[in-house]
Amino acid sequence: MKKYISIIEGDGIGPEIMKQTLKVLNAITKKYNHEFHYNFLFAGGVAIEKYNVPITENTIKNCIESDSVLFSCVGDPKYDCNKIGFRPEDGILKLRKSMRLYCNIRPILFFPGINISPIKQEIINKADFIIYRELTGGIYFGKKGRSKNLRKAYDYCVYSKKEIIRIAKVAFDASLLRKKKVTLVDKANVLETSKLWRETVKEVSLDYPKVKLDYLYIDNAAIQIIKNPNNFDIILTDNMFGDILSDESSVISGSLGLLPSASIGDNKKYLFEPVHGSYPIAKGKNIANPIGCILSAAMMLDYFGMLKEKILLEKAVKMSILNKISTEDINTDNPSGTEEVGNYIEKYIFNY
Ligand code: IPM
Ligand code: MN
Repeated sequence: MKKYISIIEGDGIGPEIMKQTLKVLNAITKKYNHEFHYNFLFAGGVAIEKYNVPITENTIKNCIESDSVLFSCVGDPKYDCNKIGFRPEDGILKLRKSMRLYCNIRPILFFPGINISPIKQEIINKADFIIYRELTGGIYFGKKGRSKNLRKAYDYCVYSKKEIIRIAKVAFDASLLRKKKVTLVDKANVLETSKLWRETVKEVSLDYPKVKLDYLYIDNAAIQIIKNPNNFDIILTDNMFGDILSDESSVISGSLGLLPSASIGDNKKYLFEPVHGSYPIAKGKNIANPIGCILSAAMMLDYFGMLKEKILLEKAVKMSILNKISTEDINTDNPSGTEEVGNYIEKYIFNY
């Protein structure tokens, strides 16, 4: 198969982890005779440096026209206080919005061979749930700003029924192929938008009589994810709560550096990116974990319909972890570098 993929390396550790990801993807394409063409584009702090904006219209156009986008991470403390629209993070936010990627899928898995989680192994060793995070609405995209004297600030949280229905359907459809259980996480005891989420998701659930729907307030969900992760199968939630819960859930896997994600919409052009940020202090040190980015590429293979390829890539990743070829975040005793992890996975694929 021939595919055109936009590559955005972004800031901080972005280029290093993407290098390993492309290395292992190339091993897959060689083995299975695919042809992937990569188009390198800029977003984040590097784009501010180059073009004075965190992402250009041309970059967005290129992303929309390619078969998919593989994205590392953006963020650079140097630009944290820039005005709205000119921070590195605005690059990814604008790209998600422009590509209409309203649903962000973040699988949370336990990885055998990692035992650094502060949670007891018997609690987490069967954890397997997926967070469906709304990605183009809510407080992230509501009107925001400051009063004239700068002493007041506001961020409006707005959701329409239409925005809730479309992601709810994706989550319910996915649950039919799993344990048929959806948990809506909200703050319906306080927030009006959360009340709308509850009402609307309940309505959607009527079309899915086989799926059990339950509800949790975000504050309680934060506890339950750590205490009883096995109670979850699909978590459906808004943009902000999904952002926070996915970072928290990484404690189950052992490191934020392991978690991948896929962002999807109705346009069939998707974006794949790790859950973590740009980890600026690790930049250039060859210590960052490339697995979140590599597993995001595996999710991309799945979306291309390359199932055996995806399975092999995931297997290679699991073997690297079991054989302790892993970075310091999950292997404190005898850590490998970013590059060595990539080399191991590449070799595993070639020798398979
Ligand atoms: C994430 C990140 C982003 C978000 C940032 C970089 C804007 O934290 O993908 O979880 O908040 O969505
Ligand atoms: Mn986040």
